[in-house]
Amino acid sequence: MTVSNVTKLLRQREKDAVARLIDWLKIPSVSTKPEHAADCRNAAEWARQQLLAAGFDAKLRETGTEQKPGHPIVWATTPGAGTGPHVLFYGHYDVQPPEPLELWESPPFEPVVKPAEPGEKNKVPGERIVARGSVDDKGQVACFLEAARAWKDAAGAVPLKITVLLEGEEESGSVNLDKFVHENKDALKACDICVISDTGMLGRGQPAITYGVRGLAYTECILHGPNQDLHSGLWGGRVANPITELTKILAQLWDDNRRVTIPGFYDRVRELTPDERAQWERLPTDQTEALRNIGLPPEADVGEAGFTSVEREWARPTAEINGIYGGYMSKGAKTVIGSHAGAKVSFRLVADQDPAEITEKFRAWLHQRTPAGFRWDFINHSGGFPGTVSTQSPYLAAANRALERASGTKPFLIKSGGSIPVVGLLKGELALDTILMGFGLEDDRVHSPNEKFELDCFRLGMHAHALLIDELSRLSKEPPATTAGATTH
Ligand code: BES
Ligand code: MN
Ligand code: MN
Repeated sequence: MTVSNVTKLLRQREKDAVARLIDWLKIPSVSTKPEHAADCRNAAEWARQQLLAAGFDAKLRETGTEQKPGHPIVWATTPGAGTGPHVLFYGHYDVQPPEPLELWESPPFEPVVKPAEPGEKNKVPGERIVARGSVDDKGQVACFLEAARAWKDAAGAVPLKITVLLEGEEESGSVNLDKFVHENKDALKACDICVISDTGMLGRGQPAITYGVRGLAYTECILHGPNQDLHSGLWGGRVANPITELTKILAQLWDDNRRVTIPGFYDRVRELTPDERAQWERLPTDQTEALRNIGLPPEADVGEAGFTSVEREWARPTAEINGIYGGYMSKGAKTVIGSHAGAKVSFRLVADQDPAEITEKFRAWLHQRTPAGFRWDFINHSGGFPGTVSTQSPYLAAANRALERASGTKPFLIKSGGSIPVVGLLKGELALDTILMGFGLEDDRVHSPNEKFELDCFRLGMHAHALLIDELSRLSKEPPATTAGATTH
């Protein structure tokens, strides 16, 4: 039995797998900071070496332009074996900035394995690797890398045609990905299904497949008033204050039902079906406990009227202010009216909203509210289409079987409020569906200090990927036509 040799090898090698992941996590591949460009390249090269060890042909491909180079993409292919579908495995090797550093219990790029916390298993954090990127996304990519390497070593080769695309700019908006996907359309068209491990499970011991992620439209808007900072005694009351004006305008973004007030914002929103609502209602989610974990009482369950918290996260669009600045921000008091004020505003989108259209509507809405004599400046920060994938495909069924074999329990079918731009891009450009098989937990502190990846999740992820390769390799290349439920994005 080949596959049992593979999973046996994975079990034997677990310590090595952890050591390898720790090696990768030491490289501070923060894509948004130019001073980390060399680190990003090193992290890409590290992944390339792992793929070579797993028997892939692997190279680094440059992105961007000569004037504005991006971080390289790791591109790898198996020599071409098997009769199953051609799989595109996507992941990202870049990570979020680690700040604020003082909140880390151990330095973000000095990974440590911490013991399980005392308490009931599946209720408290188990043994875990703490480091920036541990779960998002190096640890989850490592699940695939280890599975591929084990196939190579236990069975001689990965029994499937796989193309690997590891991006180095996911956390900074995938700015060069559209062009790369466009330029490599022919190679990517050969793929039958994309597999991504960059999402979460429903909870500890509750593996899940995600069939939808939200999109994103992100704009920084700066309101410019006077051409200089002013004494707030001499000018307070004589001119409008950019901070006051900006906050008054932004406060109009939501009505009393916490719905977004921009005209046409909901035009393309696909409404939830009674079926989906009933299915989600039956899921064992617990908003009260989730709120308790972030230090809030049950009354803090607020959001768009008429929807449950799960519905609001998975199926409703939102507007969020991610940061706001202006005036005097340093220690102590200064009496000043700042010349300008800015806010970083993001919209999470659902099918079939279009990020460019929402950005346009938001800018027009702001323009209509410009205080007399003031002007706006905008910075466009990344975005992406929402991605909803078919729940009917034989590939998803294969992933379901793999996950059940690896975990011994039936996986849940969930959505997520987070965004992975490539999902909508592949669907839009190539009509390619994605299987999102992720192993994160809600308390993994993704993007926050003390990010972690639990070893139980790592173990499950490695085994699930090994078994997914097995399940897919047993399928014939041409799946039966089951596009029911498939969507444009
Ligand atoms: N892996 C996350 C997205 C995610 C996390 C999806 C958990 C589902 C569950 C991804 O790396 C991420 O952080 N995406 C960004 C989008 C990007 C355009 C900056 C996000 O969602 O904010
Ligand atoms: Mn991620
Ligand atoms: Mn992320």
